[in-house]
Amino acid sequence: MKKIVGILLVLAFVASFAGCAKTAATPYVGCTIYKFDDTFMSLVRQEIQKDATDKIKLSVQDSQNSQPTQNDQVDTFLTQGVTALALNLVDPSAVSVVIQKAKAKNIPVVLFNREPDPTDMAAWNEVYYVGAKAQQSGTYQGEMMAAYWKAHPAMDLNHDGVLDYVMLMGDPSNTDAKYRTQYSIEALTAAGIKSKVLAQDTAMWDRVTAQSKMAAFIAANPGKIEAVFANNDDMALGAIEALKAAGLDKNGKIIPVVGVDATPPGLDAMKQGTLIGTVLNDATRQGDATYDLAFALGTGAATISTTVGPLCDQDGTVDAANGRYVWVPYVKVTPDNYQQYVAKP
Ligand code: BGC
Repeated sequence: MKKIVGILLVLAFVASFAGCAKTAATPYVGCTIYKFDDTFMSLVRQEIQKDATDKIKLSVQDSQNSQPTQNDQVDTFLTQGVTALALNLVDPSAVSVVIQKAKAKNIPVVLFNREPDPTDMAAWNEVYYVGAKAQQSGTYQGEMMAAYWKAHPAMDLNHDGVLDYVMLMGDPSNTDAKYRTQYSIEALTAAGIKSKVLAQDTAMWDRVTAQSKMAAFIAANPGKIEAVFANNDDMALGAIEALKAAGLDKNGKIIPVVGVDATPPGLDAMKQGTLIGTVLNDATRQGDATYDLAFALGTGAATISTTVGPLCDQDGTVDAANGRYVWVPYVKVTPDNYQQYVAKP
């Protein structure tokens, strides 16, 4: 009898641990960033690291723009016993592989910045996404360019009433790049402006690449470029360098450029008047929401919530019970309001 009681006690002890498997005293969050050398993602990363208190173990790895490297990092995290993953994917199409790895070990995942396909999100109810609606940023870019065109008739260099532009795209596999490209031009059309694309190419979100692509656009379209759309501020800044080098931005005359992110160098270009508009891509709140979710999931909290905003469905409908998206709104940044986004020393 004693032996049976003893066995039952041991079983109860083991079961109590098994039942608690998701309730981690100190959560351990394994975080990957697609590449550290990305201005916007550095801001998000710094915010996540700033939020991490001594109540959490946080490891942040640089995936160096390589999905195989990121897959290895995820494997290592899972072997080390993380209680949640926070992943900025290199290649959004690799998401199903990563989710299956995590699901096999019952470790919840917070994806951020690179929106996954809804079918991948549907693969497991312990997968969350933090990001911003890319369509909105494109629309804001188009609206700002439309307002500038209407206020500056001299922008129409060949006086044909058509806005001739070039487009610098981010990584084409990224939803942000796709929608910013599409919605910016749709907003021009909605404002009643005819437009024509002179050149469009990817500069992979990168300033130096954008500078050389823009130099090539200028050489191929001498005197013809009337506007520049860039999917982010880094590429907008590269374009501005090329415009300056070609003598097209001088003596207060500029070819208008719009970007997205409102990074510190982007805001500085707004101050110089070389960037006519950008869109706040709120790195602080995206970092906070990612941290909040990873912390809550990593501790096995009964209720998952964030300090940033409610849980929503993919379409933005608030859904506190079943929503697994946190959408952080974009904000239009113009010469009238940019100063409020400049960090105070
Ligand atoms: C940002 C880009 C960044 C990209 C990385 C975008 O949301 O606007 O600056 O390079 O995310 O995925």
